[in-house]
Order: sequence, then C-alpha cells, then structure tokens
Amino acid sequence: MKEVERIIRVNHAGEYGAINIYTAQLLVSKILHKDIVPKLEEMIEHEKKHFRIFNDLLVTRDIRRCYALSFWALGGFSLGFFTAMLGRNAIWVCTNSIESTVLHHLNWQLAYLKSNDIEAHDAVLSIKADEESHQEYGQKHGSESLVYRPIFWLVRKSTELAIWLSTKL
Ligand SMILES: [Fe+2]
Ligand SMILES: [Fe+2]
Repeated sequence: MKEVERIIRVNHAGEYGAINIYTAQLLVSKILHKDIVPKLEEMIEHEKKHFRIFNDLLVTRDIRRCYALSFWALGGFSLGFFTAMLGRNAIWVCTNSIESTVLHHLNWQLAYLKSNDIEAHDAVLSIKADEESHQEYGQKHGSESLVYRPIFWLVRKSTELAIWLSTKL
C-alpha cells in the first residue's frame, strides 16, 4: 500500500533529521551548555532507536529511502547548530516545536494505520511515548518569552515543510 510506504519513508527520514539536530546541539552544548549534555545524549539514544525501527521496516519491506535524506541531515544539523548557538532556551523551544509537530503527524498516522497495517501501526506507537517525553521536556524548560516565538514558528514551519517534501521525494 502506497500510503503506508510513504509513512514509513517519512518517519525514517524524520528520525534521521532528528538525530542530526540533536547531534549538532550536543556538540555545541559540550562547550557552551555542559549541564544539558546528559539530557541531549539521552534524547539522541531515543532517536537512534526510532531510526532503527523504521530502517528495519524499510529494509524488510524493500521500500526505498527518501531521496532527500542527506539534505535533511544537513538541514537538521544546521537547525540544531543555529538553535544551540542561541542558547539553552532556544534548544528547548526548538525541541518543543519539532516534537509537537511530529506528534500531530504520528496521531493521524496511527489512526490511518490502525485499520490498514498493524505492524507499521505498532512501530509508530512504540516511539510515541519517547516523543511525548521530549515535547514535554522542551515545553517545560524552554522560555515562554515572546522573543522565542519566531524560533518556535520557524522550526514548526521548517518541520512541516520537511515532512511535506518527504512525502513527495
Ligand atoms: Fe524520534
Ligand atoms: Fe524525539
């Protein structure tokens, strides 16, 4: 089923992007914000686990990767680097923005997959709790100051654009 393939491909690309965002944030934080390094390391471990889940599905079902995979790696790394340079608050605002956008997509995917593909449904369901915990942590630790609103929206729009493009490429 085409739609199921698309969902697996988008999630595979998304997790790849997430690994790159958090990796860039971790590199900067090792110098500038040492206190948040353990949390970022924990989140990267989650994203690597998520990536493996979708990569396995991609391989066993012989689905091709998103053509723009290396572009998302670069885009993710740049976004992570940029937000980390702006400070801890920008990092958590970025996390909250990305993960809330991702969760929105996971929810419709789950609704669709429930009656179309149980294996894919369970794969998506297995990552949801981690993404929720990332979103909640980002929301709790990111500043609510108006200054950060443009970052929130910039990240949200880039994430939506990346997800949309990944369904086409
Ligand atoms: Fe993830
Ligand atoms: Fe995440």
